[in-house]
Amino acid sequence: MILQIHDLVAGYGGSVVIHGLSLGVAEGEVVSLLGRNGAGKTTTLRSIMGLTPPRAGSIRFGKNELTGRQPFEIARTGIGYVPDTHRIFPDLTVEENLILAQRIAGTRRGPWTAERIYLLFPVLRPLHRLRGSQLSGGQQKMLAIGRALMQNPSLLLLDEPAEGLAPLVVHRLVEVLREIREAGVTILLADQNLHFCRKVADRAYIIENGLMQFAGTMDVVWKNDDLVRRYLAI
Ligand SMILES: Nc1ncnc2c1ncn2[C@@H]1O[C@H](COP(=O)(O)OP(=O)(O)O)[C@@H](O)[C@H]1O
Ligand SMILES: [Mg+2]
Repeated sequence: MILQIHDLVAGYGGSVVIHGLSLGVAEGEVVSLLGRNGAGKTTTLRSIMGLTPPRAGSIRFGKNELTGRQPFEIARTGIGYVPDTHRIFPDLTVEENLILAQRIAGTRRGPWTAERIYLLFPVLRPLHRLRGSQLSGGQQKMLAIGRALMQNPSLLLLDEPAEGLAPLVVHRLVEVLREIREAGVTILLADQNLHFCRKVADRAYIIENGLMQFAGTMDVVWKNDDLVRRYLAI
């Protein structure tokens, strides 16, 4: 496993929302972390990044123990993070957003360049001189994924990447995630959109109230109405 979370406990202020969660992601896999709104998906990703620091448990990434480390140190171990509030710089141009992301990553070398991001997201190329704030929601999301890739991550954490996107854009996103995976990047996808996850993920974990409820293949989840009704249906 390239990522191994063991007995993670995390929360906000006086409330604990992740109650001893364990999961693993193997190199080259696309794994989805499923669960309804409020289940703890975002908090789990934030804990991996050190943004909501773990209160107990361990998070190992390759040879590194991540607990107790600062977010920028964690990013530099090779984890790219695209939050649900896609984080771009609104006053910088598309191209500046990409270049700056690479600088933040420090000395990590890898295949991702602005040119390669434009090949992945052709729609961004003619927009490269526009400011981030001038992009549509879907374009900002693509730029946020592009920024994460510019850091040459070996693991990419995506929080509800398809949310709020038009169906055609979601369709393109599915293709893009396949291309990213073929480029050798492992992906952990936090989402509640089963239809979307099914098209990109191999395996799934389902959580509810910060507790693991199911681990198995995406196919099993898709075919198990009971599981879907109990943990995913709205
Ligand atoms: N900043 C915060 N402060 C306090 N509670 C929060 C905060 N963010 C999330 N929570 C709570 O933590 C729980 C898990 O939320 P979250 O991780 O966002 O779930 P999900 O991403 O699965 O929707 C929810 O009960 C939510 O209300
Ligand atoms: Mg969330």
